[in-house]
Amino acid sequence: MPTTTHTLEWSAAYTHRLPGDAAGASASQGEELAKRLAHETTSGELPFLTMSYRAKLDASMEKILPGMLSFNNMLVLGIGGSALGARAIQRAFAPGQDGPNHKGRSLWIADNVCAEQFEAWLHKLVPADTLVLCISKSGGTIETLAQYFLVRDWLKAALGDQWSKQMIVITDAAKGYLREEANQYNLASLEVPDNLGGRYSALSAVGMAPAAFLGIDWRALLDGAADVARPLARQPENLASHPAFALARWARALEEYDYSQLIFFCYIPQWAAFGLWFAQLWAESLGKGGLGTMPVPATGVTDQHSVNQMFLDGPRNKGCLFLTSRNQPGGRNFDLNLPEQWAWLRGKPFGSLLEAEALGTRMALTSSGVPLVGIDMADTGPRAAGSLMMLLEAATVFTGWLMDINPLDQPAVELGKRLANARLGASGYPVEEADLAAFLAASRREQPF
Ligand code: PA5
Repeated sequence: MPTTTHTLEWSAAYTHRLPGDAAGASASQGEELAKRLAHETTSGELPFLTMSYRAKLDASMEKILPGMLSFNNMLVLGIGGSALGARAIQRAFAPGQDGPNHKGRSLWIADNVCAEQFEAWLHKLVPADTLVLCISKSGGTIETLAQYFLVRDWLKAALGDQWSKQMIVITDAAKGYLREEANQYNLASLEVPDNLGGRYSALSAVGMAPAAFLGIDWRALLDGAADVARPLARQPENLASHPAFALARWARALEEYDYSQLIFFCYIPQWAAFGLWFAQLWAESLGKGGLGTMPVPATGVTDQHSVNQMFLDGPRNKGCLFLTSRNQPGGRNFDLNLPEQWAWLRGKPFGSLLEAEALGTRMALTSSGVPLVGIDMADTGPRAAGSLMMLLEAATVFTGWLMDINPLDQPAVELGKRLANARLGASGYPVEEADLAAFLAASRREQPF
């Protein structure tokens, strides 16, 4: 196999309670899902996979990029799928901002309601040198819009009518409040294509605009994703032999055999934030109808000194995706004069610890009852990251199909949103208002500490 190939390693996948024949899908189910894949790719229901938006995205990015690059700071307003992909890509490929003596562009991602941090940003950022990117597929997410209103005022106070030149929106092409704003104020905009839901949108303008701003090779990310998606989009009949489907079958089998948690153990340290991106993708797509496995992101080697004890000797309810790359920089070498006690490190690169500890942890997990699939990346460049993202997105959707749930919606999170809206005084929530009143009137059992 050429060294440029990424690999899944299955020798410890079906072990312990998970027998080798726990396939997670019958042959007939595989055929049925291949037909479904053929149908949904042609009917435009899976744009994340077909990447049918690519040519338009390339063209609109070319157009918007020169203006973007005249700023030193970008402030992203977005949450969930509208933020996590950009952050993972930033941390992986433009980590300089978090290091000493950073010069050059900086990206700030506002994906929470943290008044203190938000104030700090608005206090320290210079409006004239800050481009704001407001990202929301629906165009109506309250946290994002709240930030939009505040930042719009901040820009206006400094720039007057020119504020609109420094606000770009990424949203649905036609629907939603943000699209109305873009039309009313003539804001520059990029599209989130139809049927491309938040957590599947990192490889669209949602993740690519911040990446391009940071000088990351965003085309390589997309090319890497296309490498993995192409066989599925072009030959859906071969679904059963695709690695993403093999992962889905394994994940489904895990659940059927009472493994309720899925560790995402990342031994590519710069890629640790992909764990948070994956956790949202997996949890929001698959936690439905009492089903699903809880994603548990962990970072090697840091978490060997944290949650790993629970992985190894806590409840035997965990499977593991174990991410490594055979091609990571080793860094500087240890001195040949290290004290005798540490002589075994002499001349070795710092990175040799990562490789050895990954191996040790992987073997320990396997021998302590954790079914494990190794994902080994040929390298850690953007193209490889795009391939990994597409593999995981496709595996998530196929797992949802095998579970017989809809992996593209997230209905359960709506209740909390409606109650919060009612709490804030939005109209149209009479039931939630009554529920809130009852909840707040109920007696409380408080314990001071
Ligand atoms: O994955 C999802 O669909 C969600 O997490 C959304 O990304 C999140 O709720 C933000 O939605 P929007 O992009 O519409 O503002």
